[in-house]
Amino acid sequence: MACYLEKPACRIKKMLSIDQWHERYRQQAEWTYAARQRAYQLSGIGSAADILDVGSGTGALEEELNCLTEARVTCLDISRDNLFYHHGKSHGTLVNADGQHLPFRNNCFDVSLFQYVLLWLHDPLAALREMKRVTRPNGYVVALAEPDYAHRIDNPKEMEPYSRMQREALIKQGANPDIGSSLGDLFFTAGLQIIEVGLTGGAWHSGEPTEHTNLEWLVTQADLGSLVSTTELAHMRGVSDLSFLQGRRVAYLPVFYAVGRVTV
Ligand SMILES: C[S@@+](CC[C@H](N)C(=O)[O-])C[C@H]1O[C@@H](n2cnc3c(N)ncnc32)[C@H](O)[C@@H]1O
Repeated sequence: MACYLEKPACRIKKMLSIDQWHERYRQQAEWTYAARQRAYQLSGIGSAADILDVGSGTGALEEELNCLTEARVTCLDISRDNLFYHHGKSHGTLVNADGQHLPFRNNCFDVSLFQYVLLWLHDPLAALREMKRVTRPNGYVVALAEPDYAHRIDNPKEMEPYSRMQREALIKQGANPDIGSSLGDLFFTAGLQIIEVGLTGGAWHSGEPTEHTNLEWLVTQADLGSLVSTTELAHMRGVSDLSFLQGRRVAYLPVFYAVGRVTV
């Protein structure tokens, strides 16, 4: 099966199975649940008839959208593997295409949304302009979650170098890991009327590592595998697990959302 992503990202993707990626996308969606509900509310998603999910991945959002709205949902992704993963489970239309060149006529969706996608695009502005083009006047373009790794907060401070390395690893994979804080500028430049730009919150509890922690480390391992030794990775995990146990671990990655209206 062809993989259209850049080579380093492709290599990292293959280090986890598609089931593990789906779990990862669901985990990320849980972290951003509250901000997403806010963005849904601001964009009147409940009364939408046609929704476009750009970079829909393995369909982590589709079930939620189907619960919230009666709308027809079109899921578009450049990866056929990801689209095929939710083929059969999906009630909507699946489209294999590039979000920077949408294969739709003008004004055919009420809401065009995306989550953790803009950071992977060569030309995020082109994608926003395309979403604006295919969204009806008075409809909405919605960024549900885009990170800003440059402003990540870590405690204990011993974890900071590893966070920096994770950011570098994403850059090597072809991503712009800091794009979140530019959402306002990008929406403005794309000609959208900005309704709100906001951030997800965060809360950490003391406790033993969970299945989620293990998945998080699988992704870290895939990201940092070529940059740090196995011993260093094991040390980093030890520091992180202990500080979680003690209740002093903070790992705050600012993740932004933005809601923009298409004006007449
Ligand atoms: C981190 S995943 C997020 C998936 C999903 N939005 C979610 O939150 O679960 C990024 C997705 O963007 C897709 N993607 C990357 N570049 C793309 C492009 N140019 N056009 C459409 N989708 C793209 C990837 O294939 C992947 O499925």
